[in-house]
Amino acid sequence: MVRKRIQRCFSRSLLCGLIQSNLWLYRSGTDLPREYCLNTRSTMASQESENRHLSIRETPAKSDYDQGLRGLTLDDVTPNSALVSCQHAFTGTRTTPIVTPIYHSVTYIMDKLEDAMSCFVDGGAIYSRISNPTCEATECAINALERGAGSLTFASGMAAVSSVFLGFLKTGDHVVYQMPCYPGTATALKHMAAHYQVELTYVTEVATEEFEKALRPNTKLVWLETPCNPNVLVVDIKAIIDLVKPRGILVGVDSTFASPYHQQPIKLGADFAMHSCSKYIGGHLDLIAGCVTTSTMEQWRVLKHMQSSFGNMLSPHDASLVLRGLRTLPLRMKKHSENALQLARFLDEHPKVERVHYPGLESHPQHEVAKKQMMGGFSAMIMAEIKGGSKGGATVAEGVRIFKLAVSLGGAQSILEHPYTMTHGRYLLSDAETKLSGVTPGMLRISVGIEDVEDLIADFKQALDKVDLS
Ligand SMILES: Cc1ncc(COP(=O)(O)O)c(C=O)c1O
Repeated sequence: MVRKRIQRCFSRSLLCGLIQSNLWLYRSGTDLPREYCLNTRSTMASQESENRHLSIRETPAKSDYDQGLRGLTLDDVTPNSALVSCQHAFTGTRTTPIVTPIYHSVTYIMDKLEDAMSCFVDGGAIYSRISNPTCEATECAINALERGAGSLTFASGMAAVSSVFLGFLKTGDHVVYQMPCYPGTATALKHMAAHYQVELTYVTEVATEEFEKALRPNTKLVWLETPCNPNVLVVDIKAIIDLVKPRGILVGVDSTFASPYHQQPIKLGADFAMHSCSKYIGGHLDLIAGCVTTSTMEQWRVLKHMQSSFGNMLSPHDASLVLRGLRTLPLRMKKHSENALQLARFLDEHPKVERVHYPGLESHPQHEVAKKQMMGGFSAMIMAEIKGGSKGGATVAEGVRIFKLAVSLGGAQSILEHPYTMTHGRYLLSDAETKLSGVTPGMLRISVGIEDVEDLIADFKQALDKVDLS
């Protein structure tokens, strides 16, 4: 079928146009808002040519495990072993570099016109926006862990999130999401509401019943973030899936705070597992990237199509850094989570700390849910509310010495930030949203690194000693 489609395209001489110009990009809109498609001539052309775009491969690249690595398949090894050892299945030479090279070639030389055709059919490299071996190697490794239909890497976490929104929502659809969540996600959704008339409802409690109350007949997507940013509450992914799947609603999970080592939403039935790879996956605070894994091949194709058309793919240089980060993800996450549990216990018992949210603590409101859906630990994000309000929070934020006062998270170095002024303050959320989301002036969001934990505890101890509650 694919071949037939391509041959048809060839007979219409589209290939020359494709190679010589970027005009083809505009021919490939999927699921654009209906009104827009009907009212403009140029997008009527998009609709007509929707079925003959040449921009995408039909299936993700294969890893050597997908192809039977000396008789071994992905099911014969643990997901962690697969993540660490899987190689992109390159062909064409007798030997394979153990480290995937950075393919920064824009274009690929062909011998014959028919080579182009076979690239379109089997996904061989033709132009780097459309397919790049370094990115594909990284995607193979991510999917070796997530076990979906396929993964895609993006220029940032927000490029990944917005591609799902743009690829799967249209005018009149309704989305349910959480507040608080990463403010960039809320902003992207508000953009969808303002420009595409997508309807939005946010819930401020993570209980499944709250999501149920928010559903409407036109709900198309429930977007979850768990553990959520910045208060580290946990949503029951499986319960939400059981609730909404019979109604045909899509479920996407921003799993950034957990990392794919501790939480794999696709296995729980989610449609999309998304990460900001700028965090744990990259692991060294030296890159911006994102990824989405889809549960079905059809969803993967829609997203791949979006990416090829809108051009928000990851650069091969950063893909190479992401791949390097992935190789040590299991090792790092074990150390991150062990450290975080010990620091959380220390903070939980400290007289100058009002409350602590860490999914691994029995006192966490959704500890039982976290135990059910997170594996091998609870990752390393802690919310601690310091007594004394903004003065208490500021004293600790500015008083730590090993922890760095900075936004972002998930790196080897320990970081903390003050959401009320830094990530969830009034520059990013409205006063009402900040209030409803429970972001308070004494709150600190802590990303526990992989230093020795006794030093991290001592650092907090000396900073908390400076808090004056008199
Ligand atoms: C939970 C979460 N999702 C998405 C993002 C966006 O990721 P990026 O900064 O890579 O675009 C972030 C960034 O902090 C985040 O914390």
